Amino acid sequence: MKAAIIYTSVTGNTSTLAELIHERMESRGMETDLIPIHEFRPGQLSQYDIIAVGTYTWDNGELPLEMEDLYEAFETEDVKHVTTGVFGTGDSFFAHYCGAVDLFRDMLFAQTSLAVTLKVELTPQQTDLDRCDKFCDRLTRELILV
Ligand SMILES: Cc1cc2nc3c(=O)[nH]c(=O)nc-3n(C[C@H](O)[C@H](O)[C@H](O)COP(=O)(O)O)c2cc1C
Repeated sequence: MKAAIIYTSVTGNTSTLAELIHERMESRGMETDLIPIHEFRPGQLSQYDIIAVGTYTWDNGELPLEMEDLYEAFETEDVKHVTTGVFGTGDSFFAHYCGAVDLFRDMLFAQTSLAVTLKVELTPQQTDLDRCDKFCDRLTRELILV
Protein backbone atom coordinates (compact mmCIF):
# COMPACT_ATOMS: atom_id res chain seq x y z
CA MET A 1 0.00 0.00 0.00
CA LYS A 2 1.36 3.41 -0.92
CA ALA A 3 0.07 6.93 -0.46
CA ALA A 4 1.00 10.38 -1.72
CA ILE A 5 0.23 13.92 -0.70
CA ILE A 6 0.59 16.30 -3.65
CA TYR A 7 0.28 19.94 -2.66
CA THR A 8 0.96 23.55 -3.48
CA SER A 9 1.53 26.49 -1.16
CA VAL A 10 2.81 30.05 -1.57
CA THR A 11 2.70 31.57 1.92
CA GLY A 12 3.01 28.31 3.89
CA ASN A 13 -0.52 27.63 5.19
CA THR A 14 -1.22 24.67 2.92
CA SER A 15 2.27 23.24 3.35
CA THR A 16 1.78 23.31 7.15
CA LEU A 17 -1.49 21.44 6.67
CA ALA A 18 0.20 18.96 4.28
CA GLU A 19 2.89 18.26 6.88
CA LEU A 20 0.27 17.67 9.61
CA ILE A 21 -1.52 15.21 7.35
CA HIS A 22 1.77 13.56 6.36
CA GLU A 23 2.72 12.95 10.02
CA ARG A 24 -0.68 11.41 10.66
CA MET A 25 -0.57 9.14 7.62
CA GLU A 26 2.87 7.87 8.61
CA SER A 27 1.73 7.32 12.22
CA ARG A 28 -1.03 5.10 10.82
CA GLY A 29 1.69 2.96 9.22
CA MET A 30 1.00 4.28 5.72
CA GLU A 31 4.16 4.93 3.70
CA THR A 32 3.38 8.36 2.23
CA ASP A 33 5.30 10.46 -0.30
CA LEU A 34 5.04 14.21 0.36
CA ILE A 35 5.26 15.82 -3.10
CA PRO A 36 5.33 19.60 -3.68
CA ILE A 37 3.62 20.31 -6.99
CA HIS A 38 6.83 21.36 -8.75
CA GLU A 39 8.12 17.79 -8.23
CA PHE A 40 4.98 16.17 -9.65
CA ARG A 41 5.34 14.44 -13.03
CA PRO A 42 2.33 13.21 -15.05
CA GLY A 43 2.09 9.41 -15.22
CA GLN A 44 2.74 8.90 -11.49
CA LEU A 45 -0.80 8.76 -10.17
CA SER A 46 -1.79 5.15 -10.82
CA GLN A 47 1.09 3.76 -8.73
CA TYR A 48 -0.62 4.98 -5.54
CA ASP A 49 -3.50 3.46 -3.55
CA ILE A 50 -4.26 6.73 -1.78
CA ILE A 51 -3.67 10.32 -2.92
CA ALA A 52 -4.42 13.48 -0.96
CA VAL A 53 -4.37 16.73 -2.92
CA GLY A 54 -3.64 19.98 -1.06
CA THR A 55 -4.34 23.40 -2.53
CA TYR A 56 -4.90 27.02 -1.63
CA THR A 57 -7.47 29.05 -3.60
CA TRP A 58 -6.71 31.95 -5.88
CA ASP A 59 -8.50 34.71 -7.69
CA ASN A 60 -12.20 34.40 -6.94
CA GLY A 61 -12.36 30.69 -6.21
CA GLU A 62 -9.96 29.47 -8.88
CA LEU A 63 -7.34 26.71 -8.97
CA PRO A 64 -3.76 27.90 -8.66
CA LEU A 65 -2.17 27.78 -12.13
CA GLU A 66 0.46 25.27 -11.01
CA MET A 67 -2.29 22.76 -10.09
CA GLU A 68 -3.82 22.60 -13.57
CA ASP A 69 -1.54 19.81 -14.86
CA LEU A 70 -2.36 17.69 -11.81
CA TYR A 71 -6.08 18.32 -12.31
CA GLU A 72 -5.78 17.19 -15.95
CA ALA A 73 -3.69 14.15 -15.01
CA PHE A 74 -6.54 12.89 -12.80
CA GLU A 75 -8.89 13.33 -15.76
CA THR A 76 -6.70 11.34 -18.17
CA GLU A 77 -4.78 8.71 -16.16
CA ASP A 78 -6.05 5.35 -14.89
CA VAL A 79 -7.07 6.39 -11.37
CA LYS A 80 -10.46 4.70 -10.82
CA HIS A 81 -8.90 2.46 -8.13
CA VAL A 82 -7.29 5.33 -6.20
CA THR A 83 -8.85 6.48 -2.93
CA THR A 84 -8.56 10.26 -2.77
CA GLY A 85 -9.02 13.18 -0.46
CA VAL A 86 -8.65 16.90 -1.02
CA PHE A 87 -7.68 19.49 1.57
CA GLY A 88 -6.95 23.17 1.38
CA THR A 89 -6.62 26.47 3.10
CA GLY A 90 -8.53 29.60 2.18
CA ASP A 91 -9.85 32.87 3.52
CA SER A 92 -13.57 33.12 4.23
CA PHE A 93 -13.35 36.84 3.45
CA PHE A 94 -13.62 35.76 -0.21
CA ALA A 95 -16.95 34.80 -1.81
CA HIS A 96 -15.74 31.35 -2.91
CA TYR A 97 -14.16 30.05 0.28
CA CYS A 98 -11.68 27.29 -0.63
CA GLY A 99 -13.15 27.19 -4.13
CA ALA A 100 -10.18 25.17 -5.43
CA VAL A 101 -11.02 22.41 -2.92
CA ASP A 102 -14.55 22.32 -4.36
CA LEU A 103 -13.23 22.15 -7.93
CA PHE A 104 -10.93 19.22 -7.10
CA ARG A 105 -13.69 17.56 -5.04
CA ASP A 106 -16.14 17.48 -7.97
CA MET A 107 -13.54 16.13 -10.41
CA LEU A 108 -12.12 13.55 -7.96
CA PHE A 109 -15.65 12.37 -7.17
CA ALA A 110 -16.13 11.58 -10.87
CA GLN A 111 -12.67 10.16 -11.62
CA THR A 112 -11.59 8.35 -8.41
CA SER A 113 -12.93 6.96 -5.16
CA LEU A 114 -13.25 10.23 -3.25
CA ALA A 115 -13.29 9.63 0.51
CA VAL A 116 -12.99 12.98 2.26
CA THR A 117 -12.44 16.74 2.03
CA LEU A 118 -11.03 19.26 4.52
CA LYS A 119 -11.08 23.08 4.46
CA VAL A 120 -9.01 25.13 6.89
CA GLU A 121 -9.16 28.88 7.48
CA LEU A 122 -5.65 30.25 6.74
CA THR A 123 -3.09 28.77 9.17
CA PRO A 124 -4.05 25.47 10.84
CA GLN A 125 -4.97 25.97 14.51
CA GLN A 126 -5.04 23.57 17.48
CA THR A 127 -8.72 22.86 16.76
CA ASP A 128 -7.81 21.68 13.26
CA LEU A 129 -5.59 18.85 14.53
CA ASP A 130 -8.58 16.68 15.34
CA ARG A 131 -9.97 17.42 11.87
CA CYS A 132 -6.66 16.30 10.34
CA ASP A 133 -6.96 13.03 12.30
CA LYS A 134 -10.48 12.50 10.98
CA PHE A 135 -9.31 13.30 7.43
CA CYS A 136 -6.64 10.59 7.66
CA ASP A 137 -9.03 8.11 9.30
CA ARG A 138 -11.45 8.47 6.40
CA LEU A 139 -8.69 8.29 3.84
CA THR A 140 -7.25 5.04 5.22
CA ARG A 141 -10.44 3.42 6.44
CA GLU A 142 -11.34 1.29 3.43
CA LEU A 143 -7.78 0.03 3.11
CA ILE A 144 -7.50 -0.91 6.78
CA LEU A 145 -10.69 -2.96 6.54
CA VAL A 146 -9.44 -4.95 3.52
C1 LIG B 1 -5.10 37.48 -4.57
C2 LIG B 1 -5.67 36.43 -3.62
C3 LIG B 1 -6.86 35.83 -3.95
C4 LIG B 1 -7.42 34.87 -3.08
N1 LIG B 1 -8.64 34.32 -3.40
C5 LIG B 1 -9.21 33.45 -2.52
C6 LIG B 1 -10.49 32.90 -2.79
O1 LIG B 1 -11.14 33.15 -3.80
N2 LIG B 1 -11.01 32.03 -1.88
C7 LIG B 1 -10.36 31.70 -0.72
O2 LIG B 1 -10.90 30.91 0.06
N3 LIG B 1 -9.14 32.22 -0.43
C8 LIG B 1 -8.56 33.08 -1.30
N4 LIG B 1 -7.33 33.62 -1.01
C9 LIG B 1 -6.68 33.26 0.26
C10 LIG B 1 -5.64 32.13 0.14
O3 LIG B 1 -6.19 30.98 -0.46
C11 LIG B 1 -5.17 31.77 1.56
O4 LIG B 1 -4.43 32.86 2.07
C12 LIG B 1 -4.37 30.49 1.62
O5 LIG B 1 -4.26 30.06 2.96
C13 LIG B 1 -2.97 30.65 1.03
O6 LIG B 1 -2.36 29.38 1.10
P1 LIG B 1 -0.77 29.18 1.21
O7 LIG B 1 -0.31 29.85 2.49
O8 LIG B 1 -0.60 27.70 1.26
O9 LIG B 1 -0.17 29.79 -0.01
C14 LIG B 1 -6.76 34.53 -1.87
C15 LIG B 1 -5.53 35.16 -1.57
C16 LIG B 1 -4.99 36.11 -2.43
C17 LIG B 1 -3.68 36.76 -2.05
